[in-house]
Amino acid sequence: MSPQQPRAEQSESDRPFKIVLADRMYRLPPYLFGKINAILYQKRRAGDDMIDLGMGNPSEPPQDAVIEKLVEAARDPRNHGYSQSLGIMNLRREVAGKYFRKFGVRLDPEKEVVVCLGSKEGFSHMCLALMGPGDTAIVPAPYFPVHVYGVALASGNAISLEVAHSEQFLSNIALTCERMHPRPKLLILNYPHNPSTVTVEPEFFVEVVKLAKKYGLMVISDFAYADVAFDGYQPPSFLAAPGACDVGVEFTTMSKGYNMAGWRVGFCAGNAEMVKALGTIKAYYDYGMFQAIQIAAIVALRGAEAAVEDQAQLYQRRRNVLVDGLRRIGWDITPPRAGMFVWAKIPEPWASQMSTMDFSMKLLEEADVAASPGSGFGPAGEGYLRMALVENENRLRQAVRQIGRCLGQSEAKPSVAAPDVVAAESPAQT
Ligand SMILES: Cc1ncc(COP(=O)(O)O)c(C=O)c1O
Repeated sequence: MSPQQPRAEQSESDRPFKIVLADRMYRLPPYLFGKINAILYQKRRAGDDMIDLGMGNPSEPPQDAVIEKLVEAARDPRNHGYSQSLGIMNLRREVAGKYFRKFGVRLDPEKEVVVCLGSKEGFSHMCLALMGPGDTAIVPAPYFPVHVYGVALASGNAISLEVAHSEQFLSNIALTCERMHPRPKLLILNYPHNPSTVTVEPEFFVEVVKLAKKYGLMVISDFAYADVAFDGYQPPSFLAAPGACDVGVEFTTMSKGYNMAGWRVGFCAGNAEMVKALGTIKAYYDYGMFQAIQIAAIVALRGAEAAVEDQAQLYQRRRNVLVDGLRRIGWDITPPRAGMFVWAKIPEPWASQMSTMDFSMKLLEEADVAASPGSGFGPAGEGYLRMALVENENRLRQAVRQIGRCLGQSEAKPSVAAPDVVAAESPAQT
């Protein structure tokens, strides 16, 4: 600083600079899983063999043919520029083709399908396209965090309604629409539901469309677990309900059934105006997905249906092992029909003695098992633990033994054989 500068200027530039964030940042709560993740990391660094059932992050890779196509497409110099922000037409056509094959739903790939950088990106930007100050969305409780905070980031308000009993959920939606002024604008659905694992039948969506038309409610269906179902159950698509494309859209993903979580490939399909609005926002925010990934995703959608089915069966075997094991140590568990999680009611006396968060910390510290506290999914999740089926069968058995030991619960002999428990996974997968 030159000696000629006046003193006032010197003191201004010496003042600490204040970063002032936008108000919307203060609508986000502290990250509840941060504490658990920090301890998990510390314990791993200390050499503890931690069994991590926290996140629904698939443990297997995609099909070899899909990876090979990615490598081949990455070697093609034509695939390295900006791609189309809505996704390449062949991929959108493939998505429409899958909807027709699996659900009998006809979609125009040009106007009714858009590719997203993972369905979570698409969902959040759709909230930005639909919601603003004073607008309200109805979300299921407990909630997958982005269902509430995607709305909050778009300056809207979220009302959460208990999802556990579907009939009750529908009548609460109707009641909320009758009583609220201005009426809610958006209904967010997620079946198979994360975290509670609740599932529905196709008739449920028929009722949803009726309600949506009656009350002018737009609908977003988050269908992330479309491909992961057990015991012959096929989760229904919202878009298959008559009139669904008049009122809403559905998000699907390649993260779960196709083991492509890190690739960030999701889709939005349905109502053309809503799809167009999402496309408009995306055109401002991104330049589309790396084209080599889109080309490999086409190969996955065309050829990997058997692999997707095998993957679902692998989760089914893991579900059997975990549910059976927890029941043997006295937990009251409802086996999920779909999804990647077991939603476990915390047993007594712990449920009355400590919070869900403290119980998760106890399992982490004393049993070396990480699971997500239900309270991370809002107050309706209190009293539950979400366990992801992302470790192999042997590790799940080990998790149950360690939990049982930590809680002083010994394994009772099974009174009946667990349904469908098949041979343990091969050592290559352990
Ligand atoms: C209900 C639900 N929706 C969306 C997502 C995000 O999926 P994607 O990887 O496509 O962003 C998840 C991931 O866990 C999920 O559980």
